[in-house]
Amino acid sequence: MVSRSEFPPDFTFGVATASFQIEGAAREDGRGQSIWDTFCREPGRIRDGSDGDVACDHYHRWEEDLDLLRDLGVDAYRFSVAWPRIQPDGRGKVNGAGLDFYDRLVDGLLARGVQAHTTLYHWDLPQPLQNTGGWLDREVVGRFVDYALVVAGRLGDRLTTLSTLNEPWCASLLSYHLGAHAPGLRERRWGLRAAHHLLLAHGQALVALRSTGLRTPLGIVLNLSPAYPFSDDPADVARTAADDGYANRWFLDPLLRGEYPSDMCAIYGDDNPDVQDGDLRVIQAPLDFLGINYYTRTLSSAQGPQRPAGAEFTHMDWEVYPQGLTELLLRLRKDYALPPVYIMENGAAYPDERSPDGQFHDPQRVAYLQRHLAALAQATQGGADVRGYFVWSLLDNFEWAFGYSRRFGLFHVDYATLQRTPKDSARWYQSFLKGVQS
Ligand code: FCB
Repeated sequence: MVSRSEFPPDFTFGVATASFQIEGAAREDGRGQSIWDTFCREPGRIRDGSDGDVACDHYHRWEEDLDLLRDLGVDAYRFSVAWPRIQPDGRGKVNGAGLDFYDRLVDGLLARGVQAHTTLYHWDLPQPLQNTGGWLDREVVGRFVDYALVVAGRLGDRLTTLSTLNEPWCASLLSYHLGAHAPGLRERRWGLRAAHHLLLAHGQALVALRSTGLRTPLGIVLNLSPAYPFSDDPADVARTAADDGYANRWFLDPLLRGEYPSDMCAIYGDDNPDVQDGDLRVIQAPLDFLGINYYTRTLSSAQGPQRPAGAEFTHMDWEVYPQGLTELLLRLRKDYALPPVYIMENGAAYPDERSPDGQFHDPQRVAYLQRHLAALAQATQGGADVRGYFVWSLLDNFEWAFGYSRRFGLFHVDYATLQRTPKDSARWYQSFLKGVQS
């Protein structure tokens, strides 16, 4: 169905994880508290009432996990650094033990022939910074730059890429407007203010990192969900543009054009963020690459998002829509002066259960990955400059507001014993990487 030979020979294939979702060891070696530790303790926030205290215990089992990566045959691993391990107070004093952990991890990857692709911020903001407003407080921008310099100073020379932020839409609008993620606030103007400060933190960090002479390619990772109209009714079409503006263009336009989209500014009115002179120039700092996370599309209507009849859905209730990836990449190429792209996340949750033969058979996940890789190959053949693809995720893990109730891993994790077991999808990816046609 799809084979590695459809991609350029130097195309990078990997798997991705994030610190809070896998590490556990929440109170060890000087780690401070993050906003997700707090959020998990608030009743009703996490569907199964769980938290990240143990997660996959990756903090202790990292060598075993790196062996899984090596045996899978991936070129690359994308992971994030937990800011509260590096600066428990979110500012000032650096916790050496925290930096040492990631230092060992990077060396462990390189020793196994696996590239390190690192994200500085995958949502675990130190709680002390939230106590003064979190991303609502412009002060946090400077704190992020300090933190970025500390991490890059120690690891930078060994990283293949360094991303500032993972999915600023989630860290701002989903967290400060829609209230679904930490810190769980619900005001549109707060979501937009948080988004502006995240983008500014990204831009200032890029400028500061480059000024140190660091040569690692620098970028940002956006979750993009292309919006399609449910019908040709003008109300549905207008809603499609607004959904695209809210989820995609609000981030793409400032980063790649140095301006917020004017149609959205008109909709937001008094809720627009306070943009100071020079902010957009900083936000538009040239990117060495753009990371994109793609899972599904949005089907927009004036009545709100629709579920297309007859479509397939994953356990997240996300529609399986591979051609959205092809269309997204080709549209971006047309609409923006785009740097090289990495698909930093793509994958699917299904309620995997152990079969009587002791194995985890997950044909739906295999099909999802095959179809998205085929869609990606089609986009590259259509001229999209994509350099790599990462499956979300190596392991089943803490899926944010869903707790442990959603499984995205190529490896099953038994949360009682923490045992990792390859699913059929892990074996399939391994053979795909070896070049076996399937
Ligand atoms: C993305 C997140 C990642 C994971 C997947 C399923 O939005 O970046 O941490 O939860 O969704």
